[in-house]
Amino acid sequence: MDKIIIEGDNPLSGSVAISGAKNAVLPIMAAALMGKERATITRVPDLRDTKTMIRLMEIIGAVCNYDNGILTVDGSMVDNPEAPYELVKTMRASFYVLGPLLARFGIVRVSLPGGCAWGPRPVDFHLKGLEKLGAKITLENGYIIARSDRLQGAEIQFEFPSVGATGNIVMAAATAVGTTIIRNAAREPEIIQLCDYLNQMGSNISGQGSTTITIDGVDSLVSADVAVIPDRIEAGTFLTAGALLGEITIKDVNPHHLDSLLIKLKETGCTISTTEDTVTISPADSIQAADITTAVYPGFPTDLQAQWIAFMTLAQGSSMVTDTVYHDRFSHIPELNRLGANIKVDQNTAFVRGVKNLVGAPVMSTDIRASASLIIGGLIAKGTTEVNRVYHIDRGYEQIEEKFSGLGAKIWRESA
Ligand code: UD1
Repeated sequence: MDKIIIEGDNPLSGSVAISGAKNAVLPIMAAALMGKERATITRVPDLRDTKTMIRLMEIIGAVCNYDNGILTVDGSMVDNPEAPYELVKTMRASFYVLGPLLARFGIVRVSLPGGCAWGPRPVDFHLKGLEKLGAKITLENGYIIARSDRLQGAEIQFEFPSVGATGNIVMAAATAVGTTIIRNAAREPEIIQLCDYLNQMGSNISGQGSTTITIDGVDSLVSADVAVIPDRIEAGTFLTAGALLGEITIKDVNPHHLDSLLIKLKETGCTISTTEDTVTISPADSIQAADITTAVYPGFPTDLQAQWIAFMTLAQGSSMVTDTVYHDRFSHIPELNRLGANIKVDQNTAFVRGVKNLVGAPVMSTDIRASASLIIGGLIAKGTTEVNRVYHIDRGYEQIEEKFSGLGAKIWRESA
């Protein structure tokens, strides 16, 4: 198994280009299964998760070609509406094929996502939403089977603005008969892009970006091309590292997608300047502790909580980091404490007392964003840090060690 080795406490400088967003491209790829021609998706990050999704689409019958960030999907041969356990268990976002395949075939068989590195992550909102659209849902041998002759528009009120459930319902409702209204919908930029993409494919969706999305069903969709939006979580990960280690510029980003993070970074004393598609950060002379509470967009993303905690380990004073989206997403904390951090957890809040410095140690990643926080921990620690189980980071970060090396970090990968 590969590991990442970091000789820490080296300053960062220069600029880094941010890749296309993992959480935008995965639902877009699922949506492409609804078109019967060829779609070209550009700025597709080279990630384990995008490769898993390509494998899944190929099992379903799509003809995919991925080269240098460009993915073509030919949906004309799609004939197998099924997502097998072997793939769903490695990537929960495989569940995104549920809505599009049900809409296209009237039947779909998708393995129920299993346990997750952080707590139970149910799919009840997806299923209740599809039932409202008229689907009959059964569970057989660990697989969700959804059936429907033609879905019917309906009003759906989510208990919580789930990103995945919003995406699935929007895709399923795109070709339903009549109008679907989703209330308490997710407002994430990735959902806006999915809706815009579906509109390019011929659907009639409005209200994306607000809490109410309206979908006027159309008869069928056509294939369309799209360029994936920048990854705001990768961007935030680099900014957090820059806040600790030196002035850097992140390029090819949408600074507005980072508003909640930039406000908090300023609160810690960092200097931030933005252009239309770049953000430059200079560290504070002394980092002021700042509390965060994660929330749905436009709140502070749960996907940056772990990185923020790594940042706060070296702040002056103490900070509280509360995760309201995933209450037990704290597997990085014992590992950061192995590097000498002083963090305690009570329920869904981490209490971080700033220390003078961290010291390198072997640590283990447990999920994508926890891994990112350990890499930040290793970059700021004195001495050598070895991050094990890096397949987690490869799920969501493209060439992370090359990108940090380009900024001056001493970081490399070793194969076992
Ligand atoms: C997406 C992101 C993930 C991010 C998360 C929250 C992708 C591929 N993944 O995950 O990186 O951390 O949004 O921003 O885009 N819930 C239910 N029932 C459901 C669905 C969700 O109770 O049917 C709960 C979850 O347990 C969680 C909350 O709703 O507490 C938010 O989950 P959701 O927005 O659905 O996350 P994902 O779409 O899985």
